[in-house]
Amino acid sequence: MATMDGLYVGLISGTSADGIDAALVRFEQGRPSLVAGLVHAWSEPLRRRILAVAQDEERLDLDDYGRLDVAVGQAFADAAQAVLAKAGITPSEVTALGSHGQTIRHRPDGDRPFTLQIGDPSVIAERTGIATIADFRRPDVAAGGQGAPLVPAFHATVLRPNEGARVVLNLGGIANVTRLTPEGEVTGFDTGPANGLMDAWCLRHRGEAFDRDGRFAASGTVDPDLLAELLDDAYFALPPPKSTGREHFHLAWLDLHPRVADLTPADVQATLMALSAVSIGDAIARHAGDALDVVACGGGVHNAALMDALRMRLEGRPLHASTAFGIDPDFMEAMGFAWLAYRRLRGEPGNLPAVTGARGPRLLGALYAAP
Ligand SMILES: Nc1ncnc2c1ncn2[C@@H]1O[C@H](COP(=O)(O)OP(=O)(O)O)[C@@H](O)[C@H]1O
Ligand SMILES: [Mg+2]
Repeated sequence: MATMDGLYVGLISGTSADGIDAALVRFEQGRPSLVAGLVHAWSEPLRRRILAVAQDEERLDLDDYGRLDVAVGQAFADAAQAVLAKAGITPSEVTALGSHGQTIRHRPDGDRPFTLQIGDPSVIAERTGIATIADFRRPDVAAGGQGAPLVPAFHATVLRPNEGARVVLNLGGIANVTRLTPEGEVTGFDTGPANGLMDAWCLRHRGEAFDRDGRFAASGTVDPDLLAELLDDAYFALPPPKSTGREHFHLAWLDLHPRVADLTPADVQATLMALSAVSIGDAIARHAGDALDVVACGGGVHNAALMDALRMRLEGRPLHASTAFGIDPDFMEAMGFAWLAYRRLRGEPGNLPAVTGARGPRLLGALYAAP
């Protein structure tokens, strides 16, 4: 089989919709390394629109849907061009681009399960001049899987432990954990909220997109009653495979609890941070109790208060940002989508049935040829 080594671009905007992560990745004998990475800002109106749609605060008609799909595709193409410019690389030097797109709805359960990512891949291919691979999640959902998380397979290629089990913890809008063993076992699932609820609460009460370094949360006191009510949500006790998103854990979900109105905004923020830390800690204890260490990635690693709260819930296991293992925590996921594009070109499956619950391994992503 051709090695398909070369340069790839990976693009993703996660549930936080904080920006489009773009990673330029070199594969050498199958081993990935980050050449350049950047976070491309959304225009503020486009970001607000995406968040409103993803949380069902705004309904789209078909015309709006089509136009939003193209606008997101254009922004993704801009992100790809920006990372190439940063690295001084031309599109003709790039083998392929893997685009996750922007999830606006994720309903992997029920009688007609679906997951919906937008960002027209034909627009990305046309604008960048790079062969684009996109639509990674739906083949897994069609095969009975959750379509998420998809990064555990990539975690296994870059962070497999030498001794004892390890957890890789991705702190995005939602948190997901991956359990890895030296023998190559990989399991993983979404634990629930990481930053998403804190971001939304911070925006409502502070007018800021996120709680820098967790200072707002640190200024409040955890309310044990509200925390217990929130932890009562059925999602936390569900056995894996499971995945979730903004359509479940959003402010309307929080507002269902009358106790929220009796507390100061800072105390609610402190409680939301505790919710993330406790639910992640419990998930690790229950499903990866043998892990010796926890390696964190995603934007949440920059939230010092959240990292401290997590350490208290890990029963003494060391918690390190992935930087300690040579991987930029801000680009782990984007690198994962470059890797999925690489897998697709090699004709290798991208999903792990043990993680997503799919009936079997599947080739993920469809190819949109370069113009
Ligand atoms: N300095 C910081 N302090 C607190 N939180 C931060 C900081 N930097 C990033 N974050 C958090 O990380 C989030 C983005 O993380 P990311 O991994 O991109 O999530 P997603 O995959 O959902 O887009 C932001 O929304 C914010 O909550
Ligand atoms: Mg992000």
